[in-house]
Amino acid sequence: MRAVLRIMVLVALAVSPASAAEIHASASINAKAAGVRIAPEVYGQFAEQLGEGITNGIWVGEDSSIPNIHGYRRDVVEALQALHVPVLRWPGGCYADTYHWRDGIGPRAKRPVTLNRWWGNNEESNAFGTHEYFDFAELIGAKTFLSVNVGSGTAGEAKDWVEYVTSDSHSALAQLRRANGREKPWRIDYAGIGNESWGCGGNLTAAQYAPLLRVFATFVRQDTGPKIVSVGPSADDYAWTEEIMKSHDKFDVLSLHYYTLPSGDWSHKGAATGFDKAEWLATFAQTRRIEEMIERHSAIMDKADPEKKVALAVDEWGTWYDSAPGATALRQDNTLRDALVAATNFHIFQRHADRVRMANIAQMVNVLQSPILTDGARMVRTPTYYAFLMYVPFQGASALPVDVQSPSLQAGKGSVPAIDVTAARGEDGAVLVGIVNADPAEPAEVDLAIEGAGGKPISGQLLTGPAMDSRNRFGAAEEVHPVVFQRARWREGKLRVTMPAKSIVVLTLR
Ligand code: AHR
Repeated sequence: MRAVLRIMVLVALAVSPASAAEIHASASINAKAAGVRIAPEVYGQFAEQLGEGITNGIWVGEDSSIPNIHGYRRDVVEALQALHVPVLRWPGGCYADTYHWRDGIGPRAKRPVTLNRWWGNNEESNAFGTHEYFDFAELIGAKTFLSVNVGSGTAGEAKDWVEYVTSDSHSALAQLRRANGREKPWRIDYAGIGNESWGCGGNLTAAQYAPLLRVFATFVRQDTGPKIVSVGPSADDYAWTEEIMKSHDKFDVLSLHYYTLPSGDWSHKGAATGFDKAEWLATFAQTRRIEEMIERHSAIMDKADPEKKVALAVDEWGTWYDSAPGATALRQDNTLRDALVAATNFHIFQRHADRVRMANIAQMVNVLQSPILTDGARMVRTPTYYAFLMYVPFQGASALPVDVQSPSLQAGKGSVPAIDVTAARGEDGAVLVGIVNADPAEPAEVDLAIEGAGGKPISGQLLTGPAMDSRNRFGAAEEVHPVVFQRARWREGKLRVTMPAKSIVVLTLR
């Protein structure tokens, strides 16, 4: 009964007149422009061996009482399949620079127990290793992205891993893979040469890392080999980008890591739930900082690589809050705020689709801004999951030029635009529009002038919730999930969208 009531409230929100809008914004979209392809990989994910990110979150083993497909949780696999996860980065993260791939092959009972140096020195059974990762990527239809161990590994070890995985020959390594149960080689789409080599990956300077990048790239890039991902800057470390771009002909992708902390302070990040309006707004101010970072790193990349051959991959991004007492490593709750943060980041990545050609949310299950949380046999799709789901049609679409005029919201000493708009033309010709209303209290009226798509029939979806920290809880009806949105109307040649406070709307015009 309660569940039915909740759904009725949400549907009512979607179709009944919103109270008089306080926010008035407008945007012009050129749907006739050629546009820039949005690489599907921008909607990628990251799973690290830490906390319950993989063990219990993805992998429970074939003998588990939790329903599974060859050891992978059935509920999680099915939820991920609906997201069309384009690429999955593994095994880390900091873990990657401690990981020795030979520990994770062969009969599981014989694999060594190792210690997870960065994440509580937890004992790792290595039950989820190379075969389990590549089979999982196949199951969910994702491209593969291995981070190889530079910090405590060797170029030889990395070369052998690539050969073990991808060789169709009769080399001893290819035969070992066959003996371990996989006849056909897999494909490695991307190989990261280390993770955060400026931190947990070895505390190197850019000048110290660059020669390692060149050596490892030489041995990892084999004939039909993966695209090489260089360790890139942390947040606004522009000097790192300057130095590494001197070797731009030796790699294909430069990584960028940036996390959204409401306070911007690692010693006191902010709470995942129970926050106030000021903290909500501060979170948006922090997350929007990535746009300037992308622009400045891109400008540096343009100097060395004006043809934009090297992609920028934000291969770790998302919110990072203080962990609740007793939670497993880096586990945090996920609320409506996270969904709006995710959508804001999607918009930013799409605005820079020419250079940002991959992004991987941290992380897939039970760690940081997870689309999925599990608790024993139970699973919830978080608000972030639904943001990803609503934006699936943007994968592979062409980003269109958008000019937004929005009032600003005061966020501490700074400000953030209340309204953000993105648009794209899908492969089927439909015009897609995403709108975020980041005002936590006020509904908004957004007038869209869409050149080349005026008057087209509209369908829409809305994601919102009653509170800033509305969330989906185990064993209860969902508080936050997409509902049909019908408050977009053509008026005098413009599309007027009337949307609730703290909401995301995705429209399709065809
Ligand atoms: O995603 C959690 C950690 O954050 C990763 O292991 C590391 O790369 C980053 O600092």
